[in-house]
Amino acid sequence: MAKAISSEVGTGSREDNASRQQAGAPFRSDRSGQGSSEILRLEKVCKAYNVGQPNETEVLHDIDLELGHGEFLALMGPSGSGKSTLLNIVGLLDRPTSGRLLIKGQDTAALGDAEITHLRGHTIGFVFQYHLLISAFTARENVMMPMLVDRGFPNAEIEARANRLLAQIGLEKFADNLANNMSGGQQQRVAVARALAMNPDLVLADEPTGNLDTHSADAVFALMRQVNRDSGTSFLLVTHNIELARRCDRIIEVIDGRIRA
Ligand SMILES: Nc1ncnc2c1ncn2[C@@H]1O[C@H](COP(=O)(O)OP(=O)(O)OP(=O)(O)O)[C@@H](O)[C@H]1O
Ligand SMILES: [Mg+2]
Repeated sequence: MAKAISSEVGTGSREDNASRQQAGAPFRSDRSGQGSSEILRLEKVCKAYNVGQPNETEVLHDIDLELGHGEFLALMGPSGSGKSTLLNIVGLLDRPTSGRLLIKGQDTAALGDAEITHLRGHTIGFVFQYHLLISAFTARENVMMPMLVDRGFPNAEIEARANRLLAQIGLEKFADNLANNMSGGQQQRVAVARALAMNPDLVLADEPTGNLDTHSADAVFALMRQVNRDSGTSFLLVTHNIELARRCDRIIEVIDGRIRA
């Protein structure tokens, strides 16, 4: 693995940003210049499923949560306590039933679908337990995918950036391997590279190491921690692994849809 994930991975090289400006993509200043003191703030967030149906159930109750820029937070709690529901809301994949969700100081309630899609694509990266790579694509193609969808980078730059990301997670030799033909730990590292492709401010990882052996889990965690330290990317990591959680900046626990005080 590269000695240090350079800031290029997390913050985008100067050339990247210049290229994106040329390509009409919004230029994002470096993380230090951001207006709000936190990347994420939830105020009294509630989430109910099947609203208005006889089986309506509230699974998140009055969640208050803040995540500082560059913070690496572990989210723990029993199965069914609401961790993935919370991550889906933070990741703008689902909306709260009530309460406020602010990302970089911006209240998301006022945003329409197109603005939500843009904010999600440019601010948030996802890593899931089952990496969800496209198995018939190569490692490089999987990392390129978010950039191809966004179309903010010039085509030539997309491939070069994917190559850089793969080199920086130590998998440059596997760039042309089909995702299918890689080990679980390698695939999960590719999933981390893919999550970083759009240079997000915040990475949401839902049990990314739950399916891996101890050694691979450690490598994936170390990679995320290194990116966090080198580039200031914030992380919200759901894990059942107390050893990994203890290596995060802070641990919070969700029990029955509430943050345990
Ligand atoms: N789409 C849905 N419709 C109805 N109920 C749901 C839906 N998704 C989740 N739930 C319920 O919400 C509760 C919280 O689920 P969630 O997936 O957030 O838990 P979790 O903490 O991530 O659990 P695990 O550790 O097993 O992944 C559970 O009772 C679950 O059954
Ligand atoms: Mg879950």
